[in-house]
Amino acid sequence: MSQDLHELIDKLPKTELHLHIEGGAMYPEFALELAEKNKVPLPFEDLDSAREFYKFESLDHFIHILRTTVATLCDAEDYCRAVSIIGERAARQNIHYHELMVSPGLRPDVPLQEVFAGMAAGRELNRKRFGVETRFVLDIDRTKPADFGLNLVETGAAWCERAGIIAVGLDCQENGFPPALHKAAYARAAELGFRRAGHAGEDGPAAYMWEGIRECGFERIDHGVRAVEDPALVRYLAEHRIPLTVCPLSNLQLRVFPEMPAHTIETLRQAGVLVTINSDDPPMFDCDMVDDFKAVVDCFKLDAAAVVELARNGFEASFMEPAEKATALREFDLAATELLG
Ligand code: ADE
Ligand code: ZN
Repeated sequence: MSQDLHELIDKLPKTELHLHIEGGAMYPEFALELAEKNKVPLPFEDLDSAREFYKFESLDHFIHILRTTVATLCDAEDYCRAVSIIGERAARQNIHYHELMVSPGLRPDVPLQEVFAGMAAGRELNRKRFGVETRFVLDIDRTKPADFGLNLVETGAAWCERAGIIAVGLDCQENGFPPALHKAAYARAAELGFRRAGHAGEDGPAAYMWEGIRECGFERIDHGVRAVEDPALVRYLAEHRIPLTVCPLSNLQLRVFPEMPAHTIETLRQAGVLVTINSDDPPMFDCDMVDDFKAVVDCFKLDAAAVVELARNGFEASFMEPAEKATALREFDLAATELLG
């Protein structure tokens, strides 16, 4: 039975809405190759020592490790390769539409033009080689000053069309960095026509989710798994159809939850919240999005209808334009009906 569900997960058309370019491409082989090319030192020299290095005690520890590893990304070509490494793995999982986060604050020495040019080229490759539509969410490193976010949004606006940037987001260490620190950048992003998302309720409290919604206009929340601490917030998310991009295996590795049965995704789904399943940073957590799906389905003994609902939610929660989304949902429904036979 579970084998059938795993096959259904593999075969269903899917989206992915929460995957960071930087952490999402840092397979040890790629990091080592870039380190050699760009003459950047790494604290590991082979796959075994990389595995040791990729062990995390918390979100803050993880971000520290991420900053060290992504120091190997230096120019447009590196960013292009990172995007296409992710595109190739997406196609293998039957993901033909994804929204990838980019967090230029992780690489303050690399000119934004290099980052955006690389994204634009990677996106073209994904389309041509893998049949994958790649769009981007421009994440503000929330530990940076407000001016940093504002400048990022202004510069990103000039690259929207070319690089496929559709939204702004917020990431990196959460505790101590509430969303409203970047309220001005979000206000400007809204004026410029960006969609708005952000990490909240991963490591930080439910109050940060409220703040993201009220002060920054979050239309979608990355993680949001701590919403359960506030029943009024859970009701609000469900009523207003504010989706959560949940990353279950990342949450276990970063000790948000001690084990899968303690994860809140199923409680939130049962409460009517539009939850989606995503991978966050696959090489860092040694998983792909389909592994996250399978882990949740196995742990909570979900049935085929729930699997279809979760995959469908990915299309529903995407930042596609309404007509494009309606078409994608119709196609998804046809494919799901055929697979359910
Ligand atoms: N950047 C990459 N992964 C992240 C996560 N899980 N939370 C915040 N920032 C991130
Ligand atoms: Zn994330």
